Amino acid sequence: MKALILSGGKGTRLRPITHTGAKQLVPVANKPILWYGIEEIVASGIRDIGIIISPETGAEVKTKTGTGDRFGANITYILQDKPAGLAHAVQVAQPFLGDSPFIMYLGDNLIQQGDLSDFLKRFSEKQHDALILLRPVTNPSAFGVAKVDEYGRVLQLVEKPQVPPSNLALVGVYFFSHVIHEAIACIQPSARGELEITDAIQCLINQQKEVVACNLEGWWLDTGKKDDLLEANRLILDTYLKVSIQGEVDDQSQVTGRVEIGPRSKVINCIIRGPVVIGSDCYLENCFIGPYSSIADQSIVIDTDLEHSVVLQGAQIARIHQRIIDSVIGQRAQLTVAPRRPKALRFLIGDDCQIELS
Ligand code: DAU
Repeated sequence: MKALILSGGKGTRLRPITHTGAKQLVPVANKPILWYGIEEIVASGIRDIGIIISPETGAEVKTKTGTGDRFGANITYILQDKPAGLAHAVQVAQPFLGDSPFIMYLGDNLIQQGDLSDFLKRFSEKQHDALILLRPVTNPSAFGVAKVDEYGRVLQLVEKPQVPPSNLALVGVYFFSHVIHEAIACIQPSARGELEITDAIQCLINQQKEVVACNLEGWWLDTGKKDDLLEANRLILDTYLKVSIQGEVDDQSQVTGRVEIGPRSKVINCIIRGPVVIGSDCYLENCFIGPYSSIADQSIVIDTDLEHSVVLQGAQIARIHQRIIDSVIGQRAQLTVAPRRPKALRFLIGDDCQIELS
C-alpha cells in the first residue's frame, strides 16, 4: 500500500496568504496542514508516500517537509507541471504508484485522527476497487457530490454541481486499486479544463467496478478559505493541545488552560487563556491572548488583545486598541499604531487582502 498526497494546485482561495507560499504549508496550531496528513498516513502503517508538488511552491514544500525521516516515512516528490486536475496528478504519479493500491489524500484536507486506519483496514480486507468517504454538508455545490441508493451504493458523482443531487460531499481522502489508472485514461478534461477524479470514479461505477462509499463520522475540514482555516485551528487546539511551557513567563503574567509556549519565547505582563499555542522566539508584552489563537515562531505582539486568530511567522502586532478576533495575519506582516501626525490610517496592503475596520 502506498499513499499519494496532493500538494500542488493554485491556492487561490487563501490569497493573499498563498501569494508567497503553498497553501498546504499554512500552519494550523503552528504546524503545516500537510504534515497532519503525513502523520495520519504513517499512523495507519503506510511508509511509502509520494507528494505531488507544483513548479511554483514545490521547492518550499520539499525543503520544509524533507525526506520523510522526521515522520518515519519515505517521501518521493513528484512534480506536476500544471494544476490540470486531481486525476492528472494521479496520472503523473503512475510511475511511483505502479500497480500498488493507494490512498489519495488532498494536502489541504484535515480529518480527525485515527479515522484513516479504520477505512484502510476495510478497503484492504474487502479488496474494493475504490472506497470514497462522504459527509453531509450545507454547501454541496462547493464539492464533489454523491448520489447514493438506500443501500449506500454510489449511483452518481458530480463535481461542484449547480444543482446538487444530494448533500453528501466527497471528502478529500480516497482509496484506490490500480484500476483507477485505466479509468483515468478514459476521461476527458471537464468544463473547467481539469481531469477530475470524480469523473474517473464515475467511470469505475459505470463499469460495475466495486466502488463503496463510507460515511465519515469524525470531523473533516477542507482548509481552502480563511474561516475554514480558523475552524481547523480551533478544532486542532481543542483536541490535541497539551500544556508545555518552555519559554519564559514573568510573575505578572497569568497563563490558564492548555497553553504551549515554545523555547526562547518571552511573555511579559500578559493574560493568556488557552487553548493557545505560541511558537519559539516570540516576544509578547502587555497582551491578552484569548482562546483558539496560534502565534507562530519569531512573532512580536505588544499591547494587543487577540482571540481566535492565527498569526504567522515573524508577524509584528503592536498597540492595537481594539480586540483582534477571527483574523489571519500573514508572515512578517506588521500591524501597529504609530504616534505620528497627522493622526491617520496608513497602509501598505498586498493584493487580495481583506481588512475590516469598525
Ligand atoms: O476537499 C474535498 C474536495 O476536493 C472534493 O469534494 C472535490 O470533489 C475535489 O475535486 C476537491 O475539490 P477542491 O476544489 O477543494 O480541490 P482543490 O483544487 O482545492 O485541490 C485539492 C488539493 O489538490 C490541493 O491540496 C491542491 C491539490 N492539487 C489540485 C489540483 C487541481 C494538485 O496537487 N494538483 C492539481 O492539479
